[in-house]
Amino acid sequence: MKRKEALKVAADKLPKKRFKHCERVAETAVQMSEIFKADKDRCFLAGILHDYSKYDDLSKMYQTVTAEQLDPELLEYKSEVLHGPVAAVKIKNKFNIIDEEILNAVAHHTSGAKQMGLIEKIIYVADYIEPKRTQPGVDQIRDIVFKEKNLDLAVYTITKANVKHLLNKDQTIYHKTIECLNYYNMARE
Ligand SMILES: [Fe+2]
Ligand SMILES: [Fe+2]
Repeated sequence: MKRKEALKVAADKLPKKRFKHCERVAETAVQMSEIFKADKDRCFLAGILHDYSKYDDLSKMYQTVTAEQLDPELLEYKSEVLHGPVAAVKIKNKFNIIDEEILNAVAHHTSGAKQMGLIEKIIYVADYIEPKRTQPGVDQIRDIVFKEKNLDLAVYTITKANVKHLLNKDQTIYHKTIECLNYYNMARE
């Protein structure tokens, strides 16, 4: 899929504000692709499409999990976790996107995972630090990315913040997020 087509797909599917967020994630991912030597077109595509299923109906998402034999544990979670893996399946089936790194990047942007590929890590981080994000600690992560150029440390720091946030709300944590936390705690320098 070309950039122009992906932009149209996202613009047609998402509310304006969410589309703008996707554009910023795609642009941030392209910026990061230069630092970390990733393919910029694939980073752009993954960025623009990552939230494709953000507002899909929850019961339809559960149907997709079952029909596509995704991890059944996903049925214990809501859109916050589900919209990644569901979007990956949708863009694969609807637009014939078969690039595994793009699909994994879209699938895992909501949870993280252990042993992520370069584009996966870039999208996971770009989603957290795109220019309009204002959550506490985001500037520290921008420095880790753009000054220290330490992608694994950025993944770890983001996952740690996410896990802390979920624990504070007494929420259950999806196993891939815990695996991501442990893996990047070991991998970071
Ligand atoms: Fe998302
Ligand atoms: Fe997003």
